[in-house]
Amino acid sequence: MKLNSLFLLLISSALTISRASAHGIVEERGEQEADYIIVGGGVAGMVLAARLSENPLTTVILLEAGPDPADNVDVDTPFFAGALQATQFAWNFTTIPQTSLGGLTPALAQGRGFGGGSTINNMAYCRGAASVYDEWAKTSGIEELRWDRISHEFQKNTKLDIPQPHNYSQVINTSTFGNGALDVSFERGSDISKFDPYFVDAFLNDPEYPAQSADLNDGTGIGAMLGGPHTVRASNGTREYALSAYGWQMADRPNVMLHHSSWVKKISFKGKKATAVEVLNEIDNSTQTVKAREIIVSAGALNTPKLLMLSGIGPSSHLNSLGIPVVQDLPSVGSNLYDHNSAVVMIEAAEQVFTTASLGNPELLASAETKYKRSGSGPLSTPGSSSFVTERVPDDILESFNATFHLGLAKDRPHVLYQYAPASLVPNPANKSAVSGFVALVQPEARGYVRLNSTDFRAEAIISPNYWGSPADLAIQVWAYERLLSKMRSEALAPVRISELYPGSNVTRHADIIAMMQKSARSFHHPGGTVALGTALDRSFRLKGLDGIRVVDSSAIPSPPTCPLQAPVYALGEVAAKLIKEEGGI
Ligand SMILES: Cc1cc2nc3c(=O)[nH]c(=O)nc-3n(C[C@H](O)[C@H](O)[C@H](O)COP(=O)(O)OP(=O)(O)OC[C@H]3O[C@@H](n4cnc5c(N)ncnc54)[C@H](O)[C@@H]3O)c2cc1C
Ligand SMILES: *[C@@H]1O[C@H](CO)[C@@H](O)[C@H](O)[C@H]1NC(C)=O
Ligand SMILES: *[C@@H]1O[C@H](CO)[C@@H](O)[C@H](O)[C@H]1NC(C)=O
Ligand SMILES: *[C@@H]1O[C@H](CO)[C@@H](O)[C@H](O)[C@H]1NC(C)=O
Ligand SMILES: *[C@@H]1O[C@H](CO)[C@@H](O)[C@H](O)[C@H]1NC(C)=O
Ligand SMILES: *[C@@H]1O[C@H](CO)[C@@H](O)[C@H](O)[C@H]1NC(C)=O
Ligand SMILES: *[C@@H]1O[C@H](CO)[C@@H](O)[C@H](O)[C@H]1NC(C)=O
Ligand SMILES: *[C@@H]1O[C@H](CO)[C@@H](O)[C@H](O)[C@H]1NC(C)=O
Ligand SMILES: *[C@@H]1O[C@H](CO)[C@@H](O)[C@H](O)[C@H]1NC(C)=O
Ligand SMILES: *[C@@H]1O[C@H](CO)[C@@H](O)[C@H](O)[C@H]1NC(C)=O
Repeated sequence: MKLNSLFLLLISSALTISRASAHGIVEERGEQEADYIIVGGGVAGMVLAARLSENPLTTVILLEAGPDPADNVDVDTPFFAGALQATQFAWNFTTIPQTSLGGLTPALAQGRGFGGGSTINNMAYCRGAASVYDEWAKTSGIEELRWDRISHEFQKNTKLDIPQPHNYSQVINTSTFGNGALDVSFERGSDISKFDPYFVDAFLNDPEYPAQSADLNDGTGIGAMLGGPHTVRASNGTREYALSAYGWQMADRPNVMLHHSSWVKKISFKGKKATAVEVLNEIDNSTQTVKAREIIVSAGALNTPKLLMLSGIGPSSHLNSLGIPVVQDLPSVGSNLYDHNSAVVMIEAAEQVFTTASLGNPELLASAETKYKRSGSGPLSTPGSSSFVTERVPDDILESFNATFHLGLAKDRPHVLYQYAPASLVPNPANKSAVSGFVALVQPEARGYVRLNSTDFRAEAIISPNYWGSPADLAIQVWAYERLLSKMRSEALAPVRISELYPGSNVTRHADIIAMMQKSARSFHHPGGTVALGTALDRSFRLKGLDGIRVVDSSAIPSPPTCPLQAPVYALGEVAAKLIKEEGGI
């Protein structure tokens, strides 16, 4: 490992420097190269930049296409999370027509800007079933991914806060959290949504198939979580995300630069060795070449395979069809796309439930804002729903669906996840105050793909998550949707429900229910698997057949976890950073 005499960060000053790196940076034009370029400043990218730059002799340049969200009130305020998808902080992707949805094309927004998905996500923090991590270890050959090892990374890198009053009942295994960078918290008893206990009780008190309260962060996969946890800083009720937890650690490090508004168009190779990136500065439209000893791509599960294909890495027939010179034929790049796809049951909520419609009531809004400003508490300090239930579909039902794949999954795995949002997730023309329950298949059998539609880096890729794409996937999703519907229609929810808005109380026939389920299909925003460990990547996260280039982000995750993705991606970043540091002797 060469020792850099000084942080010779050789990038033109035209690139925008974030405030996170504004201190003490020496900029020069020259011929030297940085040690690492990280493409994408999302969850994995921020973890890597922070860890690799811990050694002051290692130089790191992080290039993020989107803007700097620091101090943005909408990003900071947990209750506003749902509104962030229609902003500059999101890539407005949509899928191509989905066969299983009769040709519908649901949206599939991704995070854009420092923090990536963690800047706009709903902050749920969940590690899920232990067997998933053991499977990744086996697929990849990376022993550090095994649950008994990665659980230490999870523990070491998080800190749990259980604010008072904590007067609701939830199993919490505090031993799985430590004193790390990422703040995770449960809600105060005074702030928890009035809808939460009713929603969870409907599952806990199911007469035939009751759920049980469980901590889904200690390796347990199946159970009910009430009141969190989520990535919210309990001290002042602000969003905790990759920029706040990891980005600011780098503020005083002269050996690392974080650049926003810097869209990497292409990776350049000398033979099989990655040598540089071409980056567009979105502020003045200038393009520059930035060189590094090694390039780590962390652009997310949809943009990473897109960038690789634009750079000549992917299935050669596909690249040939677009006239892109093939650097390396890697058929698995862009394949194996999975997502957690959900369907919605929407009701009109009783008055005591705080929803996005409550923001339109000047008195409620004023009181919520006052409380939030004064003490970082109240309804704005929460995502407005922090509870969810994961469930394994009973074997006899799986057998009746011929669901061999799902039957064969380790017994700690749930198949479906039920949650809700305090908002309209389907059209709500009368503007009622709405709560949208939703359920997602979290262990899909079917896989989709990402392909290029054009050689223009600005053009949207062809994205097909193959929603509920096998007969068993669809049968399970329908079963779970009918179950969600019966819960949302149940007596248990009567105190917090006024009426049903979607699919509508007249929708009772099986075929009509399926049609409405398909119409309401939406991404849970957890795509992954498109540049997977085991197929595209070796056990050092290197692209097979190439030098000087790795992929570390949700693309690398070979099979879906049973929970939302951010917790697994933070931990994956930590594991990869450790391996890269060990290998590089840094
Ligand atoms: C709306 C939404 C809600 C979600 N809710 C939850 C939740 O409640 N709980 C949970 O656990 N997970 C949730 N997730 C998922 C979670 O946030 C993601 O899985 C996670 O952020 C993925 O991390 P990543 O590092 O793979 O990619 P990302 O965090 O997406 O980061 C990739 C970054 O790369 C940048 N980039 C892309 N292309 C380029 C390029 N060519 N040049 C430079 N930069 C580029 C992007 O702008 C982005 O900032 C949600 C995601 C979304 C979008
Ligand atoms: C996404 O669309 C919204 C409008 O719906 C727009 O404000 C935003 O700028 C778009 N984001 C990007 C990255 O184009
Ligand atoms: C918990 O305490 C708060 C404030 O003291 C109160 O508003 C809330 O109703 C209580 N919740 C439960 C479940 O008892
Ligand atoms: C808490 O989690 C640890 C680590 O996964 C586990 O060993 C322990 O059994 C759990 N405790 C309880 C009470 O479930
Ligand atoms: C919230 O608290 C964190 C520390 O826990 C601090 O860094 C951040 O600036 C605070 N944000 C606001 C808006 O008060
Ligand atoms: C940069 O180029 C794009 C595409 O040609 C154009 O839409 C945009 O307005 C330009 N921006 C600036 C700042 O010149
Ligand atoms: C399951 O397989 C059996 C035997 O092949 C078949 O008769 C049955 O129709 C299948 N059921 C479903 C739901 O596909
Ligand atoms: C619902 O709200 C939207 C946007 O706030 C508004 O344009 C529309 O007129 C409202 N519709 C009704 C029926 O109040
Ligand atoms: C692909 O490109 C064609 C031609 O520009 C366009 O009509 C089509 O909508 C694009 N498809 C996607 C999925 O963007
Ligand atoms: C239910 O009622 C709505 C509104 O009256 C109507 O549009 C819809 O077609 C009905 N659906 C069924 C399955 O009857």
